[in-house]
Amino acid sequence: MDRNFNTFVKTIFLLEHQQKLLSAVSIILGSNDTSLETKLSAICSLLKHEIKTYDWVGFYFAKAETKTLHLKAFAGIPNDHTVIPFGKGICGQVAVSNENFVVADVQSQDNYIACNIDVKSEIVIPLFTNNNNIGQIDIDSNTANAFDKTDVRLLEQVNKLISDHMTSNNISINIS
Ligand code: SME
Repeated sequence: MDRNFNTFVKTIFLLEHQQKLLSAVSIILGSNDTSLETKLSAICSLLKHEIKTYDWVGFYFAKAETKTLHLKAFAGIPNDHTVIPFGKGICGQVAVSNENFVVADVQSQDNYIACNIDVKSEIVIPLFTNNNNIGQIDIDSNTANAFDKTDVRLLEQVNKLISDHMTSNNISINIS
């Protein structure tokens, strides 16, 4: 009984925290005189700062002509994988599958690109505008099995806010 109640209280706090994060994301997106890339960087910093198991947070965007993903914003340790071919690694697989990918243990994956030896788990959630998979949010954690369905739900909602912002303001990401 007590254990159930503790779980219930923890869930309420978690959902309230996530609601606050989503409000903050909306405020960031609504700010004037700032580029989308700057706003995405601020969202990465917010999520990394506010959720202790999020050690690296980034947004990759797809270039259809070359079938490559391009890192456009991140918070955390810089890495060399700023361009990832479709199909390669967890990110590249999501570019092709259009599906969320939650990896509890990155060592268990054959098709995985290591950015940092400390990373233990990863989540990638695709970002859609007008039903097109245009990019993704990618999060690495130095904690094993760091992501569950509450993270999936939060990150889907973050991506939806970004997608709505892009479509209603007719903004696209510039990939050179
Ligand atoms: N691990 C990713 C590469 C990107 S880094 O995590 C920042 C992958 O396997 O696609």
